[in-house]
Amino acid sequence: MIFVVYSFSLLGVSGMLTLYSPAKINLFLQILSRQDDGYHRLATLMQTIKLADTLHVALADQDELTCTDPSIPTDGSNLVLKAARLFREISGLSVGIRVHLEKKIPHQAGLGGGSSNAATTLWALNQLTGQTLSTFQLMQASGKIGSDIPFFFSKGTAFCTGRGEIVQALPPFQNESVTIVKPTEGLETARIYGQLDLNDTCKENSERLLHSFMYPNQIPLLVNDLEKPAFGCLPQLEDLKRQLQRSGFKSVLMSGSGSAFFCLGQSEKELPTDLFSCQTSFVNRSAENWYTL
Ligand code: C5P
Repeated sequence: MIFVVYSFSLLGVSGMLTLYSPAKINLFLQILSRQDDGYHRLATLMQTIKLADTLHVALADQDELTCTDPSIPTDGSNLVLKAARLFREISGLSVGIRVHLEKKIPHQAGLGGGSSNAATTLWALNQLTGQTLSTFQLMQASGKIGSDIPFFFSKGTAFCTGRGEIVQALPPFQNESVTIVKPTEGLETARIYGQLDLNDTCKENSERLLHSFMYPNQIPLLVNDLEKPAFGCLPQLEDLKRQLQRSGFKSVLMSGSGSAFFCLGQSEKELPTDLFSCQTSFVNRSAENWYTL
C-alpha cells in the first residue's frame, strides 16, 4: 500500500513523469587527437547548470514527440526518440513513449541540450518501467547515441575523457553564478571539429587543468580548444568574447563547440538585448533522483 501511494506521488495519477533536463557547460575542453573513426579524443570538465528544458514523459503504444519550439525536429532524428529506441534495445522491453518537450536550452549552442534530453528520456523510461536497469548501465549504453550523453548520469560534475563517454564523477563545486550568452547564430558541432587544427591546441597536461579547478588556492585554467575554429566560422564571436570580458565578468569561455559563452561572476554593464542571455547557477543531483532546480 505504501508503494502505491509513493508511485502516484512521483508519477501523478496519469502515469506522467515530469523531469528537468539541465544544460551543461565545459569548464575546460581540450582536444587531444583525432581517432581513426573521425571522432576526437578529448579531456573536459563538465558541469550541469539550472538552465533546463522540461520533459513530460508517459508510456504509450507508439513513440510520439511534441515540442514547444517548432524549429526542433520531432521525428526519429531527435535524440529523445533515439533514446527510446536504445532503451527498448537494452532493456528488451517493447514500450513506446509519449514526450512533450518544453525547450528552454538554446540549440547549436554547445550546451548539450539534445544530449541532456536523451539522458533524461532514458532515466524516465527506466523509472516508468520499474527500474530494471542500473544508472551505470544507462550511462554505458547512452554513449552509443551521443558522446556527451553519459556525462548526465554523473551527479552533474565530472571529468570526461575518450570521446567524452568515459566519465569520472567528481564531488560538486562550490556554487557559482553563471551567465549564459548566445548570439542568434548557432554552430554545428561536426563543422567546428572539422575546422580544428590539432597543431593549434593547448598542450597543458589535462590533470593540471583539472587540478586548477579542484583546489581552492589555484587559479582555474579556462581552455576551450574549439574556440579558435568556432571564431574562424563566426568571426563576430571573438568580438563578443572581448565585449563580455570588458563587462566585468570574472571569466568568459565558449561552451563546447559554441556558439554560447558562459560567464562566471557578475557583469557591471547591461548586456546587449539582441543576444540570448540568462543568469543561472551550477546544479547537482542526488544519487537517487534526477535533477531538481
Ligand atoms: O557524439 P556526437 O553525435 O554528439 O558528435 C557529433 C559530432 O561531433 C560527431 O559527428 C563528430 O563530428 C564530432 N565529435 C568529434 N569528437 C568527439 C565528439 C564529437 O569529432 N569526441
